[in-house]
Amino acid sequence: MIISEQIAVIRDTVREWKQQGLTVGFVPTMGNLHQGHLTLVKEAQQRADKVVVSIFVNPMQFNNAADLDNYPRTLEDDCGALGQIGTDLVFCPTPDIMYPKGLAHQSQVSVPGIGDVLEGAMRPGHFTGVATVVTMLFNIVQPDVACFGEKDYQQLALIRAMTRDLCLPIDIVGIATVRESDGLAMSSRNGYLTAAERQLAPKLAQVMNSIQHQLSNGEKNLIKLIDNATKQLNEHGFKTDSIDICDAHSLSPITADSRQAVVLMAAFLGKARLIDNCVVDLQ
Ligand code: PAJ
Repeated sequence: MIISEQIAVIRDTVREWKQQGLTVGFVPTMGNLHQGHLTLVKEAQQRADKVVVSIFVNPMQFNNAADLDNYPRTLEDDCGALGQIGTDLVFCPTPDIMYPKGLAHQSQVSVPGIGDVLEGAMRPGHFTGVATVVTMLFNIVQPDVACFGEKDYQQLALIRAMTRDLCLPIDIVGIATVRESDGLAMSSRNGYLTAAERQLAPKLAQVMNSIQHQLSNGEKNLIKLIDNATKQLNEHGFKTDSIDICDAHSLSPITADSRQAVVLMAAFLGKARLIDNCVVDLQ
């Protein structure tokens, strides 16, 4: 496995592969890898001859300096795990390599609409940071296929929209959320939970599943569903940040034409902001 922080090494390696007629899969990450990330890598291996993983904690997508500083960085362990499953190339640039001009980095990719609603409205600039870095990484790696988790539902929708709008020749693949045995969605942020909070954490998925069940049984009163769920979470030690139920395709409010809804949950448990989502077929 080649590990490099240098853009030129990534370009040269990928160029050689392409000259040999090999296809390239790509999984962008911010590191602190868990089984969710590794599942994306294994899926990319099924779909391409060679797989590149990037590990870069992207300052441009963080709204708050403390969150950026505290984000777990575990490069050695991450490379160990990636090596074990046969990853071909790891790109782990420093912020200086990605943003040599620092704050003077001027060009941005924004996806208004999908990037400005829901999580985008709560975290201004976040999705522009994501779209910009993913475009840069796509331009460096030049993959044929890239895998993203459905766990970050809005991020996946944004990347799909951006890839389509900008005619990027990359097949975007969404991968189902990988969960712990008690239902908690795997996340680098789960490491912020104390042992007691970790016991409470699966409640987020349970409350979400209850909304899913009621929606698929024809419940139409979304405000009631959201209020009840908020109350339940708050009674179990969470501080609910947002619960949204919207059209799974447009991320706009549900209309009579909506065929599928997505339930998007975000709640604080101690220091960790946990997110989860699920898609529901509407009657
Ligand atoms: P990160 O949070 O490290 O996630 C990297 C990828 O792993 C994303 O596509 C995310 O949706 C996926 N992922 C995380 N947890 C998962 C789980 N439990 N099951 C399945 N997939 C999971 O998302 C980012 O990094 C960044 O925003 C990035 C796209 C790398 C841009 O900086």
